[in-house]
Amino acid sequence: MGVEAAYSIEPVRPDDAKGLATTMMSAFYQELHWRSLWHGKPLDEIIHDTANRIPWNLVTNGPLRRYQKVVAKDSGEVVGYARWILPEDLENCWPAARVPEVDEDTQKEYERRYRSVLDADGIRGLDHQMAQELSAAIDESEERVKKDNGGRFLILDYLAVHPDHQRQGIGGMLLRSGLSVADENHLKVLVNARTQGMELYGRNGFHKVDEVVQERPQYGWTEPQVTAVLLRFVQSN
Ligand SMILES: CC(C)(COP(=O)(O)OP(=O)(O)OC[C@H]1O[C@@H](n2cnc3c(N)ncnc32)[C@H](O)[C@@H]1OP(=O)(O)O)[C@@H](O)C(=O)NCCC(=O)NCCS
Repeated sequence: MGVEAAYSIEPVRPDDAKGLATTMMSAFYQELHWRSLWHGKPLDEIIHDTANRIPWNLVTNGPLRRYQKVVAKDSGEVVGYARWILPEDLENCWPAARVPEVDEDTQKEYERRYRSVLDADGIRGLDHQMAQELSAAIDESEERVKKDNGGRFLILDYLAVHPDHQRQGIGGMLLRSGLSVADENHLKVLVNARTQGMELYGRNGFHKVDEVVQERPQYGWTEPQVTAVLLRFVQSN
């Protein structure tokens, strides 16, 4: 049975927040380096807070972000999520993956919910210093790759599949949906990949152009965190 028989790609709405948070946080919670950023905060609390932040993020993230979710046809549950960033000159492209605007009262309510789960430093329970220290080197590498390669990029900013639904083709389905937009618009595609995603990206035409290896025994890590910056060149039809 093909993946499309059991799962469908659909647009993302602010009301999807609980399902999106469950999928995203459960997927990344499997990864020990990521989990260590939370110093033992339980997954259900991370999901709760994330679900409260998502609606505000979705409606304030600007005109270049695009979102898709995958829903299991039998249960109606959200089991996959992808977020993309278009280049600035394509702000009207791919309208089906835009989150619709909401009225002012709704936006205020989203903002209230967002602020209700923050502490003085921002996302509560997250080690902000550690998160910033780690992401700085990865952001730098990504910027270098963009500069060295030039041109216009579609960026895959987030990809997650719920652990109960992994290895059934959902990640590939979401990935190829964005790649078809890249191909129609003659864009290169950039992604930061962890080990779990490497093979999937390799199979879909990505090449490793840089790698950031971070060893941090002071964070309790026994293995380095390896982030590959992957590029897919413009595909000519
Ligand atoms: C990476 C991820 C999105 C893949 O989603 P998926 O629905 O399982 O992907 P697909 O079923 O389309 O493809 C799976 C392929 O990815 C690779 N893969 C998936 N899980 C893997 C794992 N734990 N270890 C090694 N390879 C893995 C395999 O090549 C697999 O193909 P196979 O099942 O034929 O062996 C999912 O594992 C995930 O959400 N991981 C946690 C978050 C994350 O790492 N996101 C990506 C950041 S780079």
